[in-house]
Amino acid sequence: MTKPVILTGLRANSDLTIGNYFGGIKPMIDMATTRADEYDINMFIPDLHSFTTPIDHGTLQSQILNNARIYAAAGLPLNNEGIRLYRQSYVSAHSELTWILDCFTGMGEMNRMTQFKDKSTGLGDARTTVGLFNYPVLMAADILLYNAQYVPVGDDQTQHLEFTRDIAERINSKFGDVFVIPESAPKQHEFFGKGQGLRIKDLQDPTKKMSKSDESGKGVVFLGDAPEAAHKKIMSAATDDKAFIDLDRTNQPGISNLLEILALLRGASLDDVVAEFKGQAKYGDFKKVVADEMAAFLTAFQQRLVAVDDQQIYAKLASSEKTVSEVANATLLRAQQAVGLRSKD
Ligand code: TRP
Repeated sequence: MTKPVILTGLRANSDLTIGNYFGGIKPMIDMATTRADEYDINMFIPDLHSFTTPIDHGTLQSQILNNARIYAAAGLPLNNEGIRLYRQSYVSAHSELTWILDCFTGMGEMNRMTQFKDKSTGLGDARTTVGLFNYPVLMAADILLYNAQYVPVGDDQTQHLEFTRDIAERINSKFGDVFVIPESAPKQHEFFGKGQGLRIKDLQDPTKKMSKSDESGKGVVFLGDAPEAAHKKIMSAATDDKAFIDLDRTNQPGISNLLEILALLRGASLDDVVAEFKGQAKYGDFKKVVADEMAAFLTAFQQRLVAVDDQQIYAKLASSEKTVSEVANATLLRAQQAVGLRSKD
């Protein structure tokens, strides 16, 4: 009777951009909503992961809540029982299984993780924590506890997924069947399709990804931007001097980016949007269409966000945490029995 499990971690972040929204949050929510009949959908907030690098701990609680509110405003149906929304630290099995897995993980294995290398180089020795080093093991526990088969992974997470498969296979071959092995990265991409991970580009430099770390913020639209401010950002987006609208990412990256943004805002196909504007010479008129649409989107989104009922969110979190704890604790017990911490009968 158990359904296959799709699992995804929703990182707690402030200042989400429309790139995060259309490239990450929205596709995930659409996927969850359309597949909730056939699959159990686990969407969790990896709060234990949030301070592997230094953060302001005074705001962590509000960030966690705010993230859940954004998902609700983006359309996550809180009343759908097939979708579980939970906080990692509220299910203590994550921490407990991590320790067991730690003791079967090689130092060399973790040392090879490119994300660790990248992040620790940025931080330097004094600020690089054992938590950052160890975090792929926690991520493996996040996945294995729920017998999850499907985990949407971006390129930066592929190595961690491969590690999850390795450690699960290692334990299974030593102790017998303890864990369900998640599908490999290529299978994940097949399952989730190519739509995931689409990248909106910076409005000022459309050759690079729109990123919240951009210093000036001029090329980036944040979900919290005032609609008029976002309108201005679109109107001053960098384009080209061809005076001919076309989807040509190499020679007209700015115009192409705006075409893509418009398609996303309208929920229309890119082909339709291109067909509507192709050949037009007045970039200003086209930009105004995009800017108006953007302002309307932000106005509506922000209205939904303030209307989110926090009590409903807390109720959803609590009921999901109860449901998923049962699954997680059953897996933890299998692992504890395997390594001899609990008796088998
Ligand atoms: N590491 C993921 C990220 O940086 C978040 C995450 C934590 C996650 N645990 C996970 C994603 C388990 C999928 C499965 O975005």
